[in-house]
Amino acid sequence: MNTLDSGPVTRVLDRLHREGEVADGRYFAEVGAAMAASGATLEQTAAGLIAAERLDYRAVCSDHADHFLNVTRACGRFLYMIARACRAVRIVEFGTSMGVSTIYLAAALRDNGGGHLVGSEFEPAKASRARANLDAAGLADLVDIREGDALDTLEDVGGPVDLLLLDGAFALYLPVLRMIEPGLRRGAVILGENAFDPGYLDYVRDGANGYASRPLPIDEGRGNEFTVRTL
Ligand SMILES: C[S@@+](CC[C@H](N)C(=O)[O-])C[C@H]1O[C@@H](n2cnc3c(N)ncnc32)[C@H](O)[C@@H]1O
Repeated sequence: MNTLDSGPVTRVLDRLHREGEVADGRYFAEVGAAMAASGATLEQTAAGLIAAERLDYRAVCSDHADHFLNVTRACGRFLYMIARACRAVRIVEFGTSMGVSTIYLAAALRDNGGGHLVGSEFEPAKASRARANLDAAGLADLVDIREGDALDTLEDVGGPVDLLLLDGAFALYLPVLRMIEPGLRRGAVILGENAFDPGYLDYVRDGANGYASRPLPIDEGRGNEFTVRTL
């Protein structure tokens, strides 16, 4: 039995996925209705969000202070699998929210024999809920959730990085990647959830920058990008 499928982790994840559906249901329904009314694609909708974030990403985040915006079960299980496959011992997460993706990743660290996950979250209430959720899942000892702007809090993550999850403000994927880049070990995996920023995609898809990258066919249409550090 692995940690992900063990009782405490399963129970906490089941609860969080249910709570997330309730908390975010109305927001996603409104976005879907607005897209249907305007005929905008998801890429166009994301481009509008990225433009708003470029003006003031803090304000965009605080509009979502009560939303989970968590990874799906499929993406979470895939995160667990990547972390196991690359035997990750240090994982960095940009955008922790209530800690759903964090639990999938920390479960992998436990099964890898230990390690350290550095999370990041703007909203203090979300960071405390994430800590409580990790505690309930029995994984708190593996995780350090840093409160504040990831551009400050992730500057020093303490050593080489095996896996980076990008799941915060879309407009910051490239600056966060560039900040973590010197610490990425060769073969490190970067999962960009909803990686819609063309600047980010152009960068990781250009082999000259030291990456191999392609869209990930999990939760297709959600803009997930799978990237490996090749240098
Ligand atoms: C999509 S949610 C993360 C979901 C989470 N990974 C999960 O699966 O449960 C994005 C989160 O990133 C946070 N965030 C966005 N930009 C940030 C920044 N610059 N620094 C810290 N947190 C940020 C937001 O407050 C929000 O809670």
